[in-house]
Amino acid sequence: MTANPTVNSVESLRVQLLEVLPDVAGIVRRSQILVVARVQEAIARRGYATLVLAGGSTPKPLYEALATESLPWDKIHIFWGDERYVPADHPDSNYRMANLAWLSQVPFPADNIHPMPTEPSDPAIAAAQYETEIRQFFQAQSEEFPAFDVVLLGMGDDAHTASLFPGTAALAVCDRLVTVGEKSGQPRLTLTVPMINAARSVMFLIAGANKQTALAQVFAAEADPTQYPSRFIQPTGELWWLLDQSAAQGIIELKTE
Ligand code: 6PG
Repeated sequence: MTANPTVNSVESLRVQLLEVLPDVAGIVRRSQILVVARVQEAIARRGYATLVLAGGSTPKPLYEALATESLPWDKIHIFWGDERYVPADHPDSNYRMANLAWLSQVPFPADNIHPMPTEPSDPAIAAAQYETEIRQFFQAQSEEFPAFDVVLLGMGDDAHTASLFPGTAALAVCDRLVTVGEKSGQPRLTLTVPMINAARSVMFLIAGANKQTALAQVFAAEADPTQYPSRFIQPTGELWWLLDQSAAQGIIELKTE
């Protein structure tokens, strides 16, 4: 059977898109439209969709907005891009934030929610467990990086993303899907750079003037990606940068109306 060049070329096309929105509400509205469209497209093409959630504060209103959608929740699988190594009911848990804002508000089948495990005493065991869960879900071979349909990311003011922090060993892990990151000595679980880059669509949601300096380095012609890890995110599929005006100030000469 010959591959469908149109589908393959579209699916493998690498596109970087940057949009500056007036504020966080603008980022939420735009990302909601984009996420819903890609989830519906994935379901139409493959019968199901896979969505990877980011932690932090920026995506929370997006999750609240997605809870108002009417989607075939039984065809949507939710994974995480990173997790603080705390219990699922801990205030810092990325799972807890998304579950309260969205997942518990709509009828997702429990099996469709794939939180990163934080029970094992050794985070490396948890990382291996999550890698196994991803491989089994996708029926992926040992050398393969399966493609999530959409990966949501935030970016810290140090240009970290997921739990890929500047100067950490996690940045160099390229033979695993999931690894152990660390922030100020505290362990975290994170998808690896190649796992994120395998996605069909990656969306950064970035707001706030405190991100200006980091963004300028991420978009600079030359900068050390181990110091500005978001530079490592170069998916073969779409890469969306959804920025508010405050965050974008450092990289775009905004024309005041
Ligand atoms: C986390 C996130 C982290 C976050 C950035 C930006 O676990 O905290 O995954 O990578 O996306 O720190 O956070 P804000 O959106 O709160 O600025």
